[in-house]
Amino acid sequence: MGLSLPLEDFPTLVLDPARLPRHVAIVMDGNGRWATRRGLSRLEGHRRGKDSARTVIEVARELGIPYLTLFAFSNENWQRPIAEVSFLMALLRRYLMTETKRLCKRGIKLIILGDQAKLPHAVRMVLDEATRLTAANTDMTLALALSYGGRQEIVQAVKSIARAAASGELDPEQINEALIASRLHTGHLPDPDLLIRTSGELRLSNFLLYQLAYTELYFTETLWPDFGEREFLRAVVAYQTRERRFGAVRSSD
Ligand code: IPE
Ligand code: IPE
Ligand code: MG
Repeated sequence: MGLSLPLEDFPTLVLDPARLPRHVAIVMDGNGRWATRRGLSRLEGHRRGKDSARTVIEVARELGIPYLTLFAFSNENWQRPIAEVSFLMALLRRYLMTETKRLCKRGIKLIILGDQAKLPHAVRMVLDEATRLTAANTDMTLALALSYGGRQEIVQAVKSIARAAASGELDPEQINEALIASRLHTGHLPDPDLLIRTSGELRLSNFLLYQLAYTELYFTETLWPDFGEREFLRAVVAYQTRERRFGAVRSSD
């Protein structure tokens, strides 16, 4: 039985619960533009963006999507003005302090992707606490990409493999795709099935470069603070219309 959704572009859109993406990854972009278009400071856009993140987490959990990855702060975002970076860090800290209980109630496990050493001490403390408190949850995994860069992640994976090979712990012949994947921050998470990017930008911006090899891409003009339940469902329905071939041919051809 499909779940009927009244969406404006179709009278009724049917979502097939049997064909949900296992892993959805989202580049939450457009907070600054959302705010400046309204004559507000970019910071207000980030505040509103946090509410969209909360909504999407809830919807993904209700749908039963097992893995959700949110790109919250990139390695390159450290180049932004100090006031914006500080605001984002404070927002994140407050968000985690208030939200961890709710994550536990919903059975959501939090993991962090990225170079945590660069994060302020106060943020690392709440991240450690939140990941520890949610570690045993099994209903959904929420991966927050913070101070994350895909190329930097590949560099650290290569270094760790090279070290293991140099010490004799690993035979270079054993290096394969699965071994490389296991040394990335995403570890044993499945690759994303669906990538959503908001705000009309058509690029990856250094997000999950290795993991997105066969991911279905979905771009929307909607700015992240305007992205809600309806938009998320529309992206999942669009995903369900895609034919994934992974380089092979359809069995009917
Ligand atoms: C995304 O919104 C949030 C972060 C990158 C932290 P932006 O801040 O990039 O918003 P735009 O792209 O400038 O509108
Ligand atoms: C990507 O958005 C990073 C996040 C959404 C956290 P950016 O706004 O930083 O990307 P560019 O600079 O437009 O490529
Ligand atoms: Mg942006």
